[in-house]
Amino acid sequence: MSESSTYEGCIRCDYERNASDGICTIKKASDGLDIRCVGQWSKEKYFYIGRYLEIFTVAMKNGWKENLYYIDLFAGCGKCRVGETGEEIDGSALMALKLRYPFKKYFFVDSNRNALSALSERIKGSPVEDRVSLKEGDCNEKVNEIIKEIPQRGCLCLSLIDPTGLHIKFETIRTLTQDRRMDLIITFPEGMAIKRNLEQFLGQEDSPLDMVVAIEGVQIQTTIRNRISNSAGGFCLSYQQNYVNHCANMRKGRDTATRKGK
Ligand SMILES: C[S@@+](CC[C@H](N)C(=O)[O-])C[C@H]1O[C@@H](n2cnc3c(N)ncnc32)[C@H](O)[C@@H]1O
Repeated sequence: MSESSTYEGCIRCDYERNASDGICTIKKASDGLDIRCVGQWSKEKYFYIGRYLEIFTVAMKNGWKENLYYIDLFAGCGKCRVGETGEEIDGSALMALKLRYPFKKYFFVDSNRNALSALSERIKGSPVEDRVSLKEGDCNEKVNEIIKEIPQRGCLCLSLIDPTGLHIKFETIRTLTQDRRMDLIITFPEGMAIKRNLEQFLGQEDSPLDMVVAIEGVQIQTTIRNRISNSAGGFCLSYQQNYVNHCANMRKGRDTATRKGK
């Protein structure tokens, strides 16, 4: 591509390898702030996230008397650029802020300071700016802080978990959902982070995959490991199963406590 080309995309930043947390190292966004370069396929992801947010907030607004909370544990900088075309699109955080029926409170977490500061700039002037809490750091650590700020009863939460790698501990999901009403949207980097490294993970004690799939200290069972290596989507199935087991255990614990009059 020559320098004089009118090409608007950003193939050169090679975001998967060179850009720290996806932030483009070559070109800022049209608003002059940092932006994440993403692949064309991400547009589909944002379509589904956007639709879920819209449907959730419309459907729940009356029943929950607007006591709806939004948690974005991998919030990003607010804007993405489709590397191949240069098109700029809203990331999850900005999409959530622009909903017809906004949330009562928003928690945005990101471990990358530059991403969070660009997001903070982009939020300025939003009609719901005063409902936003920005938290810089590892979401696995910030989750305890967040849940203390949300009432346990009388509200419904939606958490978006959209990592680029194996960053979310199952333990964090447990903390987030323990005894509260919570919808979860989780995206899995199955191809890039999981399949590419699977052989290495399977031979390792306490691999990053164990941390994501299993509750702390519990290894992924052999069947789950086999399923991951044998089928596309196997990881998501295993995760789902693990989550269902976790919910069943939580329910059992609650029922036992009720029977004992706790
Ligand atoms: C796939 S991007 C998120 C994209 C975002 N949902 C959006 O729509 O723009 C992942 C983000 O997670 C951040 N990140 C990586 N590890 C993290 C961690 N342990 N805790 C919180 N944020 C993290 C990165 O800085 C990056 O901005």
